[in-house]
Amino acid sequence: MSKLIIILISLTLLVSCHDRNKSPQNAEMERFLDRLLKEMTLEEKLGQLNLPAAGDITTGQAQSWGIAQKIREGKVGGLFNISSLEKIREVQRIAVEESRMKIPLIIGMDVIHGYRTVFPIPLGISSTWDLELVEKSARIAAQEATAEGICWTFSPMVDISRDPRWGRVSEGNGEDPYLGSRISEAMVRGYQGDDLSANNTMLACVKHFALYGAAEAGRDYNTTDMSRIRMYNEYLPPYQAAIDAGVGTVMTSFNEIDGIPATANKWLMTDLLRDQWGFDGFVVTDYTAINEMINHGMGDLQQVSALALQANVDMDMVGEGFLSTLQKSLDEGKVTLAQIDQACRRILKAKYRLGLFEDPYRYCDEERSKTEIFTDAHRQFAREIAASSFVLMKNEDSVLPLKKGGTIALVGPLADNTENMPGTWSVAADFSQSTSVRKGLEAAAGNDVKILYARGSNVVQDTLFDSRISIFGKPTYYDTRDPAVMIREAVAAALKADVVVAAVGESAEMSGEASSRSDISLPECQRDLLKALLATGKPVVMVLFSGRPLTIPWEAAHVPAILTVWYPGTEAGHAIADVLFGTVNPSGKLSATWPQNVGQIPLFYNHKNTGRPLAPGTWFQKFQSNYLDIPNEPLFPFGYGLSYTTFTYGDLKISKEQLSGEDTLTASVDLTNAGPYDGAEVVQLYIRDLVGSVTRPVKELKGFRKVFLKAGETQTIAFKITPEDLKFYNYDLEYDWEPGDFDIMVGSNSADVKSARISWQR
Ligand code: BGC
Repeated sequence: MSKLIIILISLTLLVSCHDRNKSPQNAEMERFLDRLLKEMTLEEKLGQLNLPAAGDITTGQAQSWGIAQKIREGKVGGLFNISSLEKIREVQRIAVEESRMKIPLIIGMDVIHGYRTVFPIPLGISSTWDLELVEKSARIAAQEATAEGICWTFSPMVDISRDPRWGRVSEGNGEDPYLGSRISEAMVRGYQGDDLSANNTMLACVKHFALYGAAEAGRDYNTTDMSRIRMYNEYLPPYQAAIDAGVGTVMTSFNEIDGIPATANKWLMTDLLRDQWGFDGFVVTDYTAINEMINHGMGDLQQVSALALQANVDMDMVGEGFLSTLQKSLDEGKVTLAQIDQACRRILKAKYRLGLFEDPYRYCDEERSKTEIFTDAHRQFAREIAASSFVLMKNEDSVLPLKKGGTIALVGPLADNTENMPGTWSVAADFSQSTSVRKGLEAAAGNDVKILYARGSNVVQDTLFDSRISIFGKPTYYDTRDPAVMIREAVAAALKADVVVAAVGESAEMSGEASSRSDISLPECQRDLLKALLATGKPVVMVLFSGRPLTIPWEAAHVPAILTVWYPGTEAGHAIADVLFGTVNPSGKLSATWPQNVGQIPLFYNHKNTGRPLAPGTWFQKFQSNYLDIPNEPLFPFGYGLSYTTFTYGDLKISKEQLSGEDTLTASVDLTNAGPYDGAEVVQLYIRDLVGSVTRPVKELKGFRKVFLKAGETQTIAFKITPEDLKFYNYDLEYDWEPGDFDIMVGSNSADVKSARISWQR
């Protein structure tokens, strides 16, 4: 097809592309795709299924060479993780000017929690329990990324995980399917907006489909195995929520499911995703996931590539198995041309919906890249969402908020570090642009407060371990001095101060991909520092950085104030200062349970009762389900988080005790801000289905409201409950509710609720 014809077709489309959801436009698109596919050679079609690595970052072993030549030859469908507008313009130019078919490339990136302006890691964002903020974070990320050539993000990551040893819990939304689903939808809406062809919206990609967060022993890339009933009720809902919200693409996961890797799992990719859920976008593999099926023991490259295509996987990330073997498989009758055409068509369709055929440079906008990226407004938002994500775990004797006066000793290995503030997956971030805790505190303190800084300890006192966690431009600045000398320096600062702020925890690369830990406590050298600081008798505030729930029972018992800040992003230091000085009252709540020790893992609030449940409030009972050496309770439960003010809950009121059919139940509480500060509280609704045809969890989150109350104010918070909220997948995997008794619970976290029993009959 000549360039002229492409231009003519594009012009026709330009006139008629206002609303693509209307069928004449769809018909137009289908005709356009028919014509295109007719013109393409088999090699060019396979080229569209190929997503090689571009080179800015690599996460696996495979490398691709000679990208420009490959693009000219029509062997590349898209590229990803290039953070340079110039480079993107150039590769796009080669595609649309120098390749025979002149098909534009789709340009992807791991825009996971912001683009140049970095927001907190997803686990932090999920701790805001604020869906407006969540959606806005994705909207801003899309606005920034699309100005610099990126039109496809590998987000949202919605893998449910109950295992904090797994480093990638940092990338997800915690342990709960309901909260995870609401966040999943909000992210898709934020990225894709109402019109995918607008120059500031982008295609989202829900990942990693599926069950990646259930890796055995919390070890990354490990096997998963679970019953269908658990999958459907507990692990699959957030992926489905993204599909229902119209997500354009899906990424396969590395793990196997029922003995077949997700990337070749026909049940998963066809029966469930396409047939049951009606997904009509395209599926991309994870990084070299096709090739890795050789190690899984599924065959050689030709075989595993054919299996992936047969399963309904469309695009091959990095490994080039499709490009190098599908022709042979076609010749040998192992795959069909219809299968290749279908995959190719889905990818072309996404490009069409993005408007790339109309204007391949639609997302390359020098002007926008100068005015819409890293703006004051975006940074202000980053500060707001970061402060909202912090979880106040403990605040004995109201150590916090700090007074704006006197002397603060600021210590800890993360107190004066900028590079670690964005956390994992910040491909486009300029690390030098984020604010350290030290800078943030100094800016907020002005002349009113004296700040004495001392490092106090390393992140880990082990050079080999340190070398593993100081990669991707996020140094820990390992200090070779004697640890005792560092501690002495910190203690000297503490002795001169009124209060100590200790910025401790994990460095950014201690969580994220391929960062599993078997011991998730605070490194010993940091605990030694805390012990020495506490021994001074000065009040100590622990500002805790982490990408996962940590096991910190000692710290929780001894340190008077603990503020968990995850990795807050670009505005870390300012947001931390806002909360420490009380300009912002903390309102984050945990989206994952914090265990007391690793032996309790997996530990999650929505567990089953078992036949031998432990009596509430007790520890050990022989022949009950418990441990000899530790209580069943977590250190901090799901949904937990304190405030500087005190919220009191009135009695739970329910509109009826006996309900039937499609009735609606109203459950309400009077929430009072009984403390001295204005603040926000996340009111949580849980339901327990007491008897089922299959066993049901002891409680399940079914709603939440984040409300802001002025000091002294009372508001009635009401939840409407319908049979829809009682539904679950039964043994036959039918989604329905069953009549019977239910406990309705409302409270401030999963372990602190007011409860009422109701009966609901058909
Ligand atoms: C990760 C994905 C990511 C991809 C591309 C993989 O290693 O598992 O989450 O999107 O790399 O960078």
